Amino acid sequence: MRILYTGADGYIGAVLGPKLLGRGHDVTGIDTGLYRRGWLFDDGQTRPMVISKDTRQLSQADLVGIDAVVHLAELSNDPLGENDPEITMEINHRGSVDFARKCKAAGVGRFVYASSCSIYGAAGDEIKSETSSFEPQTAYARCKILVERDLREMVDPHFTPIFLRNATAFGASPRQRFDLVLNNLAGFAFTTGKVRVMSDGTPCRPLVHVDDICQAILCALEAPREAVCGEAFNVGDDAQNYTVREIAEIVGRTFAGSEVSYGPSGPDTRSYRVSFAKIKKHMPSFRCQWSAERGALQLKGVFERIRLDDATFNAAPFTRLSELRHLRSTEQLDPRLLWTPIKEMLPAAVNL
Ligand SMILES: NC(=O)c1ccc[n+]([C@@H]2O[C@H](COP(=O)([O-])OP(=O)(O)OC[C@H]3O[C@@H](n4cnc5c(N)ncnc54)[C@H](O)[C@@H]3O)[C@@H](O)[C@H]2O)c1
Repeated sequence: MRILYTGADGYIGAVLGPKLLGRGHDVTGIDTGLYRRGWLFDDGQTRPMVISKDTRQLSQADLVGIDAVVHLAELSNDPLGENDPEITMEINHRGSVDFARKCKAAGVGRFVYASSCSIYGAAGDEIKSETSSFEPQTAYARCKILVERDLREMVDPHFTPIFLRNATAFGASPRQRFDLVLNNLAGFAFTTGKVRVMSDGTPCRPLVHVDDICQAILCALEAPREAVCGEAFNVGDDAQNYTVREIAEIVGRTFAGSEVSYGPSGPDTRSYRVSFAKIKKHMPSFRCQWSAERGALQLKGVFERIRLDDATFNAAPFTRLSELRHLRSTEQLDPRLLWTPIKEMLPAAVNL
């Protein structure tokens, strides 16, 4: 299959690329490169060619001859969305829908969209399935709902959108994110000897390893059309509906000797538990291979190998919001998050 995957230089994309090549696909990546400064470790993997381009600037002609698209390129979490809801709507809702329309017009047959369990928001005790109501708490989550809605209307015999509602990811990726709960607690534990939870630890957060997200993407690309067309799937495992407190305790045990502490009940209203039965039914080859314990151990191994220090753990590119703030405040990105040209430094006039 000829596959184009966007967000190739992101946390999930950096893990997905080698796996797509490994399945024998003909693969090209697209990424504007917002976090390219951040590369935590080398893994010796062969990666597909990545074209540096914003998905908003791709034309229909760029997409001719592609069989399937995996669309990861968005502003990737709730705090990013709250920082600037308007640019989130532009990239994550309108940008993604326009891009999907161009894909469809160019003859792309399958469109795998990275949605999120975040759409379930403040869910109380209910266990959310794909048919449950949404309680979005952020612009990020609202955009995911709108993209699913608009793409579902585009289904026809030649166009198969699939919505993968990923749980919160964890695990090692060369393009690491330390703004994801388990990764953050693990990095903090390794560099300070403390597991510091900002909230009281009561919110529920289903987790899924980045490798397992990639496995779900491979399954969605290869599943029979009738099993997946226009369908949403929660991506994760019933056994991995953790509370933040449970995640902190796992990290505390993995980074032996670290001291776990909690803050007051925080302003973040997101808390949800999710059923992952549907994906197993429709894509029988999908099974999560990773638990939070195993993921924490994997991170410990990476941190020891690269001797992760405080400066690297806190470096802006590994926290998406910090890096975007840096790129905006230094005017490397314009208000639409497009790269600005490098200013030409003309030599001072010479007095003869
Ligand atoms: N990581 C998670 O926990 C998680 C959970 C649920 C859903 N998702 C979704 O999966 C996708 C990928 O997440 P991630 O964790 O890899 O995020 P990430 O921020 O690490 O990667 C996103 C990549 O997309 C690129 N990008 C953003 N806007 C672009 C644009 N307009 N044009 C071209 N490139 C652009 C960025 O440069 C970046 O490399 C996102 O849509 C995210 O919402 C992630």
